[in-house]
Amino acid sequence: MQKPYAESAEQNKDAILEILRQEFESCYEVLEIGSGTGQHAVYFARHLPHVRWQTSELEAHLSGIRLWLEEAALDNLPPPVLLDVGTGQWPAGQTDALFSANTAHIMSEANALQMLSGAADILKSNGRFCLYGPFRYDGQHTSESNIRFDAWLKARDPQSGVRDVTRLAAYGASVGLTLVRDHAMPANNRILVWEKSAEQTG
Ligand SMILES: C[S@@+](CC[C@H](N)C(=O)[O-])C[C@H]1O[C@@H](n2cnc3c(N)ncnc32)[C@H](O)[C@@H]1O
Repeated sequence: MQKPYAESAEQNKDAILEILRQEFESCYEVLEIGSGTGQHAVYFARHLPHVRWQTSELEAHLSGIRLWLEEAALDNLPPPVLLDVGTGQWPAGQTDALFSANTAHIMSEANALQMLSGAADILKSNGRFCLYGPFRYDGQHTSESNIRFDAWLKARDPQSGVRDVTRLAAYGASVGLTLVRDHAMPANNRILVWEKSAEQTG
């Protein structure tokens, strides 16, 4: 089996790393949701050596991620774990931080909301969740290219689509996650940063 490869992960990794250096400065354990090929994990684990970077994915992607991780042979990159946020079955224990890129618009909206409630459960008090991707606000897209992307997604899978920050933020607040920052990223993407409120300690 050849290592899977995603060009998009190569294109956005440096801009994302710049934000993660700030956001994860005091985080030591990160669980990545929907790690895809594993390329991001190798790059971020190499450049954030203070972080133990735990990859996760649906079953079909785990063997590809293992190939990237075995080749990288980094001490802070344990083997990937199975995580389908739609099942509600998350890895045991709690974590300082979560990261996910380009997942919320691929999964159904119900699963995107379940990703937030699962995040609220697994994050330690004051833990944070950095969620990268394209987003809408109050139902409005931020660019023509995102309008076209949304239409393309829905033609492929009617359950998918660019998610609305307003809706995600309201739902997040209801489960104990506060949207604390919204970083503008290249190509009309964002990094939404959520924090678990101290009183939601599990
Ligand atoms: C567009 S890819 C992004 C992969 C990688 N994060 C990146 O940025 O290159 C979306 C990923 O979300 C994963 N995904 C879809 N539904 C999921 C779910 N319910 N739980 C966890 N991951 C899911 C897919 O398996 C896929 O690898």
